[in-house]
Amino acid sequence: MAVHVTDSQESAFLQQQSIKMLIGGQWVDSASGKTFDTINPSTGEVLAKVAEGDQEDINRAVAAARKAFESGPWPKFTPSQRGRLLLKLADLIEENAEELARLETLDNGKPIKYSKASDVPLTADHFRYFGGWSTKLEGNTIPVSIPNMFTYTLREPLGVVGQIIPWNFPLQMASWKLAPALACGNTVILKPAGQTPLSALRLGQLVCEAGFPDGVVNIVPGFGETVGAALAAHPDVDKVAFTGSTEVGKKILEASVGNLKRVTLELGGKSPNIIFPDADMKFAVRGALNAIFFNQGEVCTAGSRLFVHQSVYDQVLNGLTDAASKMKLGPGIDPSTDLGPLVSQKQLERVTGYIEIGKREGATPTTGGERATGDLAQGYFVQPTIFDRVRDDMTIAQEEIFGPVVVAMPFEEIEEVAARANKSIYGLAAGVWTSDVKKAHKMAAALKAGVIWVNTYNMFDAAAPFGGYKQSGYGREMGHAVLDAYTQIKTVWVNLR
Ligand code: NAI
Ligand code: MG
Repeated sequence: MAVHVTDSQESAFLQQQSIKMLIGGQWVDSASGKTFDTINPSTGEVLAKVAEGDQEDINRAVAAARKAFESGPWPKFTPSQRGRLLLKLADLIEENAEELARLETLDNGKPIKYSKASDVPLTADHFRYFGGWSTKLEGNTIPVSIPNMFTYTLREPLGVVGQIIPWNFPLQMASWKLAPALACGNTVILKPAGQTPLSALRLGQLVCEAGFPDGVVNIVPGFGETVGAALAAHPDVDKVAFTGSTEVGKKILEASVGNLKRVTLELGGKSPNIIFPDADMKFAVRGALNAIFFNQGEVCTAGSRLFVHQSVYDQVLNGLTDAASKMKLGPGIDPSTDLGPLVSQKQLERVTGYIEIGKREGATPTTGGERATGDLAQGYFVQPTIFDRVRDDMTIAQEEIFGPVVVAMPFEEIEEVAARANKSIYGLAAGVWTSDVKKAHKMAAALKAGVIWVNTYNMFDAAAPFGGYKQSGYGREMGHAVLDAYTQIKTVWVNLR
């Protein structure tokens, strides 16, 4: 399909000579004057040039965020005024939904039908949900056992927050980070992923249009080893919130030591998805398909380890193989595409590398197992791949692949599958398919993961806490749980004698 970028709404944004960064309310070039290219992964072509941040840009952004936190209008805003800005931003996202969805798809590769139906509306919803929280951040009165003391707590913002986000859901990740931080009264420096800076920068324009005071939101694009590392280590940053690989999460933690900044981490996963023989099979097969192939499998919660009871194993594998082989690979911007390209050449190499390791270790794909060719050879496309009868000790059953690759494994007993599912360094999510309510709750209790989905998968809502067990990270996002991650408690003692 021909893509006429220049005819569409996002053209004015993309046709800027280079897209600038947002510091202290101004759109500026990088201090070095350097730019980097962001690529359309469906074609390998350059979409736009973007200002490339580094240490000096982070220094400037942190100074702007500090100034906005300590003085000026932001700290004087009432909770209601703060909330209203978030609601206004949600409205602006909806007004520009078409453009944001197209930018997201062009930059990341994901199918436009999902950008429209999921990424953009959930982003607006996130700001709206947290717009409601800003007027509800209460402290407590404490019944201390010392006479004549009136003791209460205040819930206060942390200060200047650095937020480092990945490329798989660029816009949604920006909202998961910005919305609660701003609702709680912090100021922010957001670093989008180098592969996908566009939607966050367009969102930055809407932040300005909504009327947030200068310096409350700063956006510095660039690469992890430079901008990301500078933000993570900066001595005047009070907290860093990170979503990405477990490997980089550990570096963020090391970098926090200098000034003991707060850290929350949403990291990788290798999530088990478990089908019992009493499940509604049609539903379970569809669920297993979506669990792994939604967003090309570039999802931290992807159901990448599929455990199927041996009595229905062949039935499930046949159904899944059939459905996977019918998925339509294509450019994200084509409305009929089911599966887009991977985000980058590097991710393509990582995923095809794991497929080769799987084959070498003796696993066989029932479908897929190759990079897509023909018309799609220019982009970073990988066929949906199902590895059959994989052993638990194979590399592809243990390491996060982050692509459209699932490993299927038969099981016999409930205790056995719970133990095997939990044998992972990760603990982000797990799925259970059964019509037996007792089995469902037993498994929900037994599985060591931050989120359990029963007869569903990849459900997210701004009101429902999300985060990892074990090396999938710590801290929770969404719901009331995230408020602890963006506030600190002050206890006040007043002697009434
Ligand atoms: P990554 O962890 O390197 O990237 C995530 C973010 O961290 C990006 O904004 C990046 O620029 C930044 N970053 C990288 N190095 C940094 C550093 N030293 N200091 C501060 N920030 C830094 O992930 P990458 O390399 O893009 O993908 C590799 C693998 O990571 C994927 O294949 C996948 O397994 C996992 N991953 C997991 C994600 C999740 O949602 N849990 C998201 C993205 C990747
Ligand atoms: Mg890109």
